Amino acid sequence: MNKKYRKPFIAGNWKMNMLASEVKPFMSELKANLPAERSCDVALCVPGPLVPAMVKAGRECKVSAGGQDCSQYAKGAYTGEVSALQLADLKAKYCIVGHSERRQYHAESDMLINAKAKILIENGIKPIICVGESLEQREMGLTMEHIAYQVKAALSGISSSELRKCVIAYEPIWAIGTGKTATADQAQEVCGEIRAIIRKMYGARSARAVQILYGGSMNAKNATELLAQPDIDGGLIGGASLKPVDFSVIVKATEQ
Ligand code: PGA
Repeated sequence: MNKKYRKPFIAGNWKMNMLASEVKPFMSELKANLPAERSCDVALCVPGPLVPAMVKAGRECKVSAGGQDCSQYAKGAYTGEVSALQLADLKAKYCIVGHSERRQYHAESDMLINAKAKILIENGIKPIICVGESLEQREMGLTMEHIAYQVKAALSGISSSELRKCVIAYEPIWAIGTGKTATADQAQEVCGEIRAIIRKMYGARSARAVQILYGGSMNAKNATELLAQPDIDGGLIGGASLKPVDFSVIVKATEQ
């Protein structure tokens, strides 16, 4: 983290877990474990139906609510979809886009992810744009090339003032939900490269300001080492965000 230029940010990704009735008890336990005064942003990205409960419970402990996906369209005949405007109307502050699970199970393309990021920005929601390589790509030495392609595609047509409303999350696919974390050096190397790509696209000031998160089996034990890296400004936390105590430990690790 480089707190001089960027505020640390810890975002949880609940994926398709939890019920609306479980939000309040979860948040009471989280609140009991979080420091009241914090120097970092905290959010929990939850399934759409849980957003209102998260907005309400999150107010008491300064935790923002986020969605996990949205439609690329503004409104209309798109059965099953949730619009950025609907998320904004519910007071969601963030929304994950381009998570590898959506790329994999819903065949989301880089163009689609770019469109979703844009419509979120238009509606005042900060997209958390996920990028990451597969194990095969890493083993073939294609990591940086792949990440550069994904970052450039996701940010295509996004201005520097709009970039300020974006968060980038580096999530190597082989580290998600596997318990295999990237080493701090591996994670730093790619997050540093993402910042370098953004520097080339938008200049030094924008690159210095953009929050870059690491995600992939980040937990209460390894968070401190990962967050100590200069280009890792926080985490996108899956499994460990379902446990209030573990999640609070990760939040506290940003106070180092
Ligand atoms: P994980 O998930 O922390 O369970 O690996 C991270 C993510 O998919 O965002």
